[in-house]
Amino acid sequence: MSSKRPLPQNRYGHFADDGTEYVVTDPRPPRPWSNVIANERVGLCVSHTGSGFSWIDNSQLGTVTRWQQELASDRSGKFVYVRDAEDGALWSLSPSPVWAALERFACRHGMGYTAFETAFHGIEARWTLFCDDAATVELWKIELRNASGRARRLELTGFLEWCCGVAPAPRREFGRLFLETRADAARGAVFAKNHMWDVSSERYGHWNTSFPYVSAFAVSEEPDGMQGDKAAFLGRFGDLAAPAALAQREWTPLFGRHEDPIAALRCAIDLPAGGSRTLGFTLATAETEEDAASLADRFRGAEAKDASLERVRAAWQKRLATHRMETPDAALDVMTNDWARYQAIAARLWARAGYYQQSGAFGFRDQLQDSQVWLTIDPERCRRQLELHAKHQFADGSVYHWWHPLTEQGHVTKMTDDLLWLAFVMASYIRETGDVSVLRDTAPYLDEKTPAPLSDHVLRAFRRVFQRTSPRGIPLIGAGDWNDGLSAMGLQEKGESFWLGQFLAGLLADWTEIWKRAGRADLSAEFGDRRTALVAAINAHGWDGEWYLRGTLDDGRALGSSRDRVGRIFLNAQTWAILNDVAPPDRVARCLASVKTHLVTEAGALLLAPAFDVPVSGIGYITRYAPGLRENGGVYTHAATWAIAAAAKAKDGELVGRLLDAINPSIKEPDRYFAEPYVLPGNVDGPDSPHHGRGAWTWYTGSAAWLHRVVAEWVLGVRPDWDGLRIDPCLPPDWDRARMVRPWRGATWEIDIERGVANDVEVDGVRIEGNVIPVPKQAGGRHHVHATFA
Ligand code: GLC
Repeated sequence: MSSKRPLPQNRYGHFADDGTEYVVTDPRPPRPWSNVIANERVGLCVSHTGSGFSWIDNSQLGTVTRWQQELASDRSGKFVYVRDAEDGALWSLSPSPVWAALERFACRHGMGYTAFETAFHGIEARWTLFCDDAATVELWKIELRNASGRARRLELTGFLEWCCGVAPAPRREFGRLFLETRADAARGAVFAKNHMWDVSSERYGHWNTSFPYVSAFAVSEEPDGMQGDKAAFLGRFGDLAAPAALAQREWTPLFGRHEDPIAALRCAIDLPAGGSRTLGFTLATAETEEDAASLADRFRGAEAKDASLERVRAAWQKRLATHRMETPDAALDVMTNDWARYQAIAARLWARAGYYQQSGAFGFRDQLQDSQVWLTIDPERCRRQLELHAKHQFADGSVYHWWHPLTEQGHVTKMTDDLLWLAFVMASYIRETGDVSVLRDTAPYLDEKTPAPLSDHVLRAFRRVFQRTSPRGIPLIGAGDWNDGLSAMGLQEKGESFWLGQFLAGLLADWTEIWKRAGRADLSAEFGDRRTALVAAINAHGWDGEWYLRGTLDDGRALGSSRDRVGRIFLNAQTWAILNDVAPPDRVARCLASVKTHLVTEAGALLLAPAFDVPVSGIGYITRYAPGLRENGGVYTHAATWAIAAAAKAKDGELVGRLLDAINPSIKEPDRYFAEPYVLPGNVDGPDSPHHGRGAWTWYTGSAAWLHRVVAEWVLGVRPDWDGLRIDPCLPPDWDRARMVRPWRGATWEIDIERGVANDVEVDGVRIEGNVIPVPKQAGGRHHVHATFA
């Protein structure tokens, strides 16, 4: 491909080889640059300093190891210390907590693992952290090499603090009254459990209950020191940077129920000159102590750990292999093909956590949107997500805004869009697979235990939204729509949301078609009529002159109007008007022009502008964020991806190119941007912040799955439709071509898109009418598509 933009690097790090590893080479980038590593049950978040924490099943309620979120110092978590037994030199295998002047440092964040490479005091080390692909274990593999030219005796200590329950746990001294640890010297393991779990739920009863797991922290070698008490390890008023115990030959182990529970496991290592040694630690968590012990035993040896790491790497490679894109921009390719999807799956769907936010819960709208990442590569998983969310709906159509796995505690709110995302993702699933049998999948309601078909779930959601409509036909916003921060506009059930209207209008079009296919002509006709009326109402009441209003407050005042000083224009009300064919052509042009004038910045499209600078109680907490932060006039990346789709739909390739660059973290100047270059941030500060262009809240953001989908379906324009695969690209002006390989309806499609003189689509060498490739008559095989676009 001509003039391919190479993978970027910056002064703190670079992508390695094929881009699936990011190597942080300077231990002091502007913020902790982290990785979220997870399988479907356990995981860990680890930053380039080594700080971080681990969990099982729920990254908030099931936190296994203690950690303190601290962006400025970032030295809290699980560590490995190395001490030279002869001269007492001390360092750690990651920068934190010792912060020795490492002679060599690299933190390699990969898909499913992080490896720290260090050299200090003549010892080269590599510490790799990962989780098995299925078992509930976190594994640390440690490779040491003596490059000092003389025999060495080292003491290596693995360290962590137990939480075994809910984090953050500010009442630390209360929490520790219930923790219990036990040392098993023969096994080289420490066990931890918690007799009081700080949550109450229907399932687990009153909080007079135990944390339902036991964890084991085990070392592969025979330990020559075990410590279970923090003060004994640190020394009086000691410091994690130089724990007093490390300089003491004999440790008096303190385990049981009366300590400040940590686990420190020390082993002595003799390394001849030039010699190497591999050892490791295992953090195993299971329902019983026996199971935790047997997991620890199973993964004790280096071979078991190596085999596990190999499985993890192979699984990620395979998971992402069948759908790939290649554009002239390697920096975009590495985001869309690899990191954004890794982010969506590992952090959003499995961990439901990142360095900035530890949720553990499923957001009704959030993880449904995230599950779009499976549509092309494993649609069955998307289908299971639909079922899971349907089970968190009430019989009246309303849903939990979020709920916690483990306890099933859920949050009932007056948010008004959540329930509709089930219909949205189901429509995407049907477009992708052509399989309407998903409508007949069943799930019970929370308050009605008989399973009901998903079509019924969707219909009840629609009916509920139809009821919550203003006299002039616009959906009510209640306690917020997609934008949670618009939390006070409609508490009296009067305020309206034009965005929600636009979202609903798109769904009505989709479901007009789906009901028809499902043999429900009555519903199909009803939905078609409703769409027509809704589009007319939005255009009659929601147009401000140059753009669409965002909504109205309970008192009838408009939100997002040119008459306002702040909050004059909102992005979503423009982009969704375009995406869902609500805006007639002249309004498409005008609202896109307004987006460009008022919202597009070099950091991406702002969610609104100008930012609110004083709290407005009738709008919501969005106005209480500092100006330019997050939804309040920042670039909210989730919505910024929709702006790319809208620009592509409006065939504004120049804007597509600008917006793609604007939100690509890998090409940012790190001293201004601050956040990780390899994953999307939740938000970037807008111009009303003194730190315009600074990214934050990385990893845990719904933008990851969306970026992939938007680039695939709108920029490359390969969009599954009810009866065909539409090829409708809108490439940035400096791209002359792009390529995609993806599965669709049982076959593999290799699609070459090229800028040409005419619009022309050839399938397996034969020109087709139009740009929608019909569903192949036979499944299987490979097809080649060559598309030129003027
Ligand atoms: C947060 C919420 C998400 C919401 C978004 C926009 O990320 O978790 O549900 O859509 O903010 O307000």
